[in-house]
Amino acid sequence: METSRQAMLERGTARLKSPPPGRPPSFAHKIPDAWRVLASGMHQSYDSVAEGIADKETAQRLMGRMAKLMRNCAGCHASYRLIAAP
Ligand code: HEC
Repeated sequence: METSRQAMLERGTARLKSPPPGRPPSFAHKIPDAWRVLASGMHQSYDSVAEGIADKETAQRLMGRMAKLMRNCAGCHASYRLIAAP
């Protein structure tokens, strides 16, 4: 189980440690603070799911954690759109 948890944590944080190629360095400065809060909440929710799996929680409890994660996704999607700069 520890191997799975470690694999999830590594995959979940890989993009934070190494931004995808093609993302300009100036991008980080353009991200709104509210976006950071939502994105950070999403990562914490992912960590919470990983913790639940590591603790061998029931599927029902894990689905509860997933539901919280999905609310985070939906909240951000309801608030933001990506549009190309003119
Ligand atoms: C911090 C904000 C934010 C969070 C949190 C977030 N997203 Fe997104 N996501 C976006 C934005 C912005 C887009 C681009 C949507 C657009 O411009 O129409 C997007 C697009 C997507 C797309 C592509 C949709 C398409 O039409 O091509 C998927 C799939 C997606 N998100 C899944 C997720 C999932 C799953 C989660 C949660 C685990 C999540 N996102 C959390 C901001 C976020």
